[in-house]
Amino acid sequence: MEAAETGRAAVAERLLTSSLRTSYDPTVEIDWDAPHTPGAYWLPPQRSSLYGTPLWEQLSEEQRVELTRHEVASAASAGLWFETILMQMLIREYYRADPTSRQAQYALTEVADECRHSIMFGRLIEAMGCPVYRASTVDHHLGRFLKATASGPRMYAAILIAEEILDAFQREIMADESLQPLIRMVSRIHVVEEARHVRFAREELAAEVAATGPVGMAYARLLVGRAAYTIANRLVHPDVYAAVGIPPAIGRAAARANPHWRATLRWSAARVHANLADVGLVAGPGRLLWARAGLI
Ligand SMILES: [Fe+2]
Ligand SMILES: [Fe+2]
Repeated sequence: MEAAETGRAAVAERLLTSSLRTSYDPTVEIDWDAPHTPGAYWLPPQRSSLYGTPLWEQLSEEQRVELTRHEVASAASAGLWFETILMQMLIREYYRADPTSRQAQYALTEVADECRHSIMFGRLIEAMGCPVYRASTVDHHLGRFLKATASGPRMYAAILIAEEILDAFQREIMADESLQPLIRMVSRIHVVEEARHVRFAREELAAEVAATGPVGMAYARLLVGRAAYTIANRLVHPDVYAAVGIPPAIGRAAARANPHWRATLRWSAARVHANLADVGLVAGPGRLLWARAGLI
């Protein structure tokens, strides 16, 4: 085994040990029937896409809480959608991997985590009494394309974008005692297990980048930019605004122009952007998509 290979195996081994120690089964770990806390937000209000806009000022306190409930349901729907894509990408990689390698075994462990997460997000949406906010037809097909074809650097980069952007919100949520206990608990479980996924993806990404030529990297930059664009846009589904009586197109336009929301998007993407830029995956036309999405 080469040194880099040994290093990757050692990381995977550590992650497998950590998975044994701290893994959660949300169906038993969370009291899904517990009553919600009256008046508590689901998201820090300053992270709402409309925070600080004239539309926000017109909402009652109750409607503001309601908006964050639907925004969380939208993010959970996006998370669950992306986890389905991710599981399929990891399984596809596993098909050609060495099943005795620690990396392959960790990839399967990650799929097992994601199976529980997607059930958790499904239960969360149900417990919140919100609809599932589905991807648009275009994104639905892009997702299908990604999960059927992505491998190498673009696969791990796409994984990192989705995981790290959601993670930024969830770390803040789990630390904020004023928020609904249910969303804090869901966030805590997700943050603990996702930290391992992020570590693994960064390790695998570095190896994939080292093995990819200039043409592959150029394609990866473009695809990575498109993935970032979709994830940023998909975070808040326009239909959430209808829940508080705002026409979806009006709400979406207000969010897009909202300097608070734009700052939140940049804040959520700061870490993954720095990491991907570091390995040369944010540049050229792909970078324009990051900018258009408001992530940089
Ligand atoms: Fe997950
Ligand atoms: Fe994950």
